[in-house]
Amino acid sequence: MAAAAITTHPLPLPPSADPSYFHTFGTEVRGLDPGNLTPSQFKLVEDLLYKHSALLFRNADLSPEQQYTLTKAFDPSSESYGHGNNKTGGEKKSILHPDLKTIPRQPQVQLIGNGLVPEHEGLVNAQLKHPHHRTFHKTVVPPEDDLKYTRFYRWHIDAALYDLSPPKVTTLYALAVPQGEAQVCRYDDGTGDELPVPLGTTAFVSGKTMFDLLPPEMKSVAVRTTVKYAPHPYVWMAPAHALSTGLGLETEGLELPLNELPQWEEGKVKFLPMLWKNPVTGNLHFEVHPCGIQELLIAPLPKGASRDNDGASYPSGAHLTELKDVRDLVYKMQRPAIAPALVYPHDWNEKDLVIFHNRGVLHSVVGAFAEGQVRMFHQCNLAASDDPAGPSEEDIRKYA
Ligand SMILES: [Fe+2]
Repeated sequence: MAAAAITTHPLPLPPSADPSYFHTFGTEVRGLDPGNLTPSQFKLVEDLLYKHSALLFRNADLSPEQQYTLTKAFDPSSESYGHGNNKTGGEKKSILHPDLKTIPRQPQVQLIGNGLVPEHEGLVNAQLKHPHHRTFHKTVVPPEDDLKYTRFYRWHIDAALYDLSPPKVTTLYALAVPQGEAQVCRYDDGTGDELPVPLGTTAFVSGKTMFDLLPPEMKSVAVRTTVKYAPHPYVWMAPAHALSTGLGLETEGLELPLNELPQWEEGKVKFLPMLWKNPVTGNLHFEVHPCGIQELLIAPLPKGASRDNDGASYPSGAHLTELKDVRDLVYKMQRPAIAPALVYPHDWNEKDLVIFHNRGVLHSVVGAFAEGQVRMFHQCNLAASDDPAGPSEEDIRKYA
């Protein structure tokens, strides 16, 4: 049989999306078997991923072993799951603990979803729980509206944010997708923003768009900022509550005190640039996991910066250590990019494989399932072999 032609197609956008923001974001790839790519086919896929941030393969057949091999190909010296193999399971207090079930023979691949799965790939009676905003947000959609209205659960990057480096890609493979009524995702932040979403969608926004939307004075701050994350951030944030948009936390003083965290060391605390440089396009992506942030370190304007005398924020640099200040500034920078017109909510079909550039997008679980709706996905990402690169000197000169 002759090999099918390899073609790419724009992702189908919902009516809510403004197509002008999606010229390069998202591509469906046809004519390739993602579980059996030749080295040259993989190079093509890798290039497409960095240019388009998210790739969709429909009707994919992918064993856990193949998914691991594919995921690893993006970072050949990576090895362990993005949160460390089974470490999340060991840290009972982590808010990630209930969401992940490890495939025994391929521990870098997690079974995620909803409902009781009697037998699957060596797992027996796996009780899956689709994360629900009521377990995390300060305010909730009233129970009587729960299957009609929903929230973004948590906008994030897949990353441990302590010790390990953020995975380059995440692969999500849909095995069982319950059919059901669409829901309306409410922002509930006083803006009236709402987004109609397919049941159990995964929502994506572009980190590039998040940066591009910033006014010049905020670009100047972004290009100079390093983000310090809390040690063991998912344990630290466990008692805290999220904002109604899922884009960060309320500041109520509920975070676990640092001396009550599992043992940690200063040298493993993550300091990451606010902007991550795309290795293929050179574009800057605003990549901050808003729930895990603890402090911001803003460098002074470089000598001869264009806005030297032009009212740039923090011209002499700053070290923001008050959580409220840190969160308010980051929220102001990130919120415009999660507006309904800028969100791509993927409408999952069984055997869809989505590969996303975890260092180029933010994503969120969305939706609420009824009892008995069984959803099964395989998810894989690998702690990277390095930390993401930040802006170049040229970028800093250009935007500072
Ligand atoms: Fe995720």
